[in-house]
Amino acid sequence: MTFPVDELRRGYDVDENAVRFSNYFHVLRELVHLSCGWLPLAADFELKYRLGDHLHDDARAISRVRRRLYELRHPSEYPGAPGEELAALLDRMDGAGEPSEYIAIAYGEVKPALLRAIRIHLEGLDPVSDEPSLRLLSKLASNQERHMEELSVAGRRSPGQGIDRTPEDPGALEIRLKAEPRPLRVMARIDAPARDEFVEVTEQGDPFLAAELYVNDPELNHVPVEPEEQRHFFHGLMDAELTAAELMARNSHEYPEMPWDFHVDMARQIWDEMRHARVHHALMPTELGCRWGDYPVTFSYFKSIYAHDLLGRLALFNSTSEQKAMWRHSRRREALTERGQEKVAMVFDYLLADEVPHVHNGVRWGTHLLGGDEAAYRRKVRELREGLDETGAPRQAPSAA
Ligand SMILES: [Fe+2]
Ligand SMILES: [Fe+2]
Repeated sequence: MTFPVDELRRGYDVDENAVRFSNYFHVLRELVHLSCGWLPLAADFELKYRLGDHLHDDARAISRVRRRLYELRHPSEYPGAPGEELAALLDRMDGAGEPSEYIAIAYGEVKPALLRAIRIHLEGLDPVSDEPSLRLLSKLASNQERHMEELSVAGRRSPGQGIDRTPEDPGALEIRLKAEPRPLRVMARIDAPARDEFVEVTEQGDPFLAAELYVNDPELNHVPVEPEEQRHFFHGLMDAELTAAELMARNSHEYPEMPWDFHVDMARQIWDEMRHARVHHALMPTELGCRWGDYPVTFSYFKSIYAHDLLGRLALFNSTSEQKAMWRHSRRREALTERGQEKVAMVFDYLLADEVPHVHNGVRWGTHLLGGDEAAYRRKVRELREGLDETGAPRQAPSAA
């Protein structure tokens, strides 16, 4: 065996390297935070889906960047606070007034600038002494390329009228190590999420969806088996997945002071729920003979959960709604397998598996909010459940999952 011997590049010194990673950290953190804020307000299903997928990638990347900073410079002050020039760019992204403006800045300016910096970094680093950075950055670059390809806004710049005002190499910008951490701006509360313009939103939702579909009583629960009821059922289920993603997105956005792992857990659940929605979106035309938008939906369930603070949302959604849906999913899977609807039944197998960590998110972070007292959290869940009807929905709101 001949071990390859290459001449070393000089590369970056460790401080320069840490400054570059700190800049990426600030950019990615703001992207995750704002994408979570805007996701519920993005009406177009594909746009909503892409935001959920990409913010999950970016949240995972932040964990790796933080880890690299720890390896390089612990216990120093990195990532500090962004310097003036980066702060100005982030402020501009923060100031977007609607989803399309946010997308134009995030995907038309900020992500391209980030990718530019990563490429410069990859070219300059020494691939042996700094191989951990090489691996991390290669992955980060390919994710950013994919994000920009999937949500292509090239040439569609924000009101800067085509002038690129982003720094040439954001990785080299100054970092203020002694400054206070940059506060994340929380957007105004929303009234309701947004749906594709062709989806009808009504107070009642789809009148076809009967309560028996959502009760957990083995005597009373009804698994949808007829084609017509399956069409309505999966349509309602897709909408429920969107609602779940939107609630988790606002949880992350509205509570920036929560520990970083909370945001990673929310990001993962957002992506899972969006993927579930995508499964139903595909299943409807290919297996069931209907399409997204064929029936009305309602925002009353979203509103009933969103009205609570984070603790209440976790108790009612993750620890109640999702926890109870698990039983129904496994029952649905069994019944559909027996009927020979293998593909449709398989969907529930994955929904069920993904639901386990979602339920755990409730216990984990609800307990955290109560100072680590899990018993107190369980009491809170029991207390809030008393206000629910037999379908598990708060008061009169339909649960639809
Ligand atoms: Fe789901
Ligand atoms: Fe879920």
